[in-house]
Amino acid sequence: MKVLVTGGTGFIGSHTCCVLLEEGHEVVVIDNFSNSSKEVAEKIKEISDRNITLYEGDVADKDLLRGIFANEKIDVVIHFAAYKAVGESVKLPLKYYRNNLGNTLSLLEVMDEYNCKRLVFSSSATVYGTPEALPIKESFPLSTTNPYGTTKLMIEQILKDLAKADPTWSIAILRYFNPIGAHPSGLIGENPNDIPNNLMPYIVKVANKELEILSIFGDDYDTKDGTGVRDYIHVMDLAKGHLKAIEKVMKETKIDCYNLGTGEGYSVLELVETFKKVNNIDVPYQIVSRRPGDIAACYADPSYALEELGFKAEKGIEEMCKDAYNFIIKNKE
Ligand code: WQD
Repeated sequence: MKVLVTGGTGFIGSHTCCVLLEEGHEVVVIDNFSNSSKEVAEKIKEISDRNITLYEGDVADKDLLRGIFANEKIDVVIHFAAYKAVGESVKLPLKYYRNNLGNTLSLLEVMDEYNCKRLVFSSSATVYGTPEALPIKESFPLSTTNPYGTTKLMIEQILKDLAKADPTWSIAILRYFNPIGAHPSGLIGENPNDIPNNLMPYIVKVANKELEILSIFGDDYDTKDGTGVRDYIHVMDLAKGHLKAIEKVMKETKIDCYNLGTGEGYSVLELVETFKKVNNIDVPYQIVSRRPGDIAACYADPSYALEELGFKAEKGIEEMCKDAYNFIIKNKE
């Protein structure tokens, strides 16, 4: 199949491109490199020993999109391109609504024009807000507490309304839990340019002595050791989940949502200690006050994705920690 991947040089997008290429699919990428770089496209080719077709530009640019659909016979689209920093979205909501919603509406309108109606959408477990129970099922109530999460929830609603109006759309909404790790080659991974918002990239920078100390946001939650519990999933497993999702939307015409998680919850302290052990490296940390908006615990019931997509995460927390650090070491060299 020929797959258009928006944001295909980003963290999850680049790993998904590698998996798609290794499966023998053709990959077309559109990316404005706002949170990545053109070099990642070269790394994808190096890893997969296959070429990708790369269009530099913005998903909001409908003429660029029309050119892609006119030149490339796209079978299915995976839509990653979005801003995703929770804290920044609180400070700059209009930037997030304009970009995340605007991109998606432009993409859907052009897909419709070219009668390409098979889509995999990158959503997030953040749409569950503070879960009513654990583990989290797809049928749970949805609510969000920040503009980033709200853009994901709004886009899910847009997609549901679209599929209702035109049932020839086939859409898989993937709700990611906490993606971490890196490709085992160490050639691609997560390496935010500025101070990381998320836990693992922060741990890695402290281990690599780029940052002095890790601040653990609260140890007074009602969890196993008082620190926040999350469902960390290896980015390579997450990438494989997208492969299953495009197969699903090609086979069955419907819209549905799927949790992509492991079903295992690990605390911040457990992740830090595992990272130190497997990489034999120190990660100095201090306990500070809670981060506003954080929830105590969040982990998936992954059974529906297994039932419907045949997807099950395989890599454990130790491999996630090893691969995350290996990426930084390889790139330091
Ligand atoms: C994980 C745990 C923090 C940083 C967010 C988004 C979500 C998705 C993944 C995009 C929490 C603690 C963190 C630090 C810490 N992103 N922490 N010190 O908040 O679960 O999810 O990223 O889709 O939408 O909401 O991930 O990695 O920021 O935090 O103690 O420096 O680590 O309190 O318990 P989160 P995270």
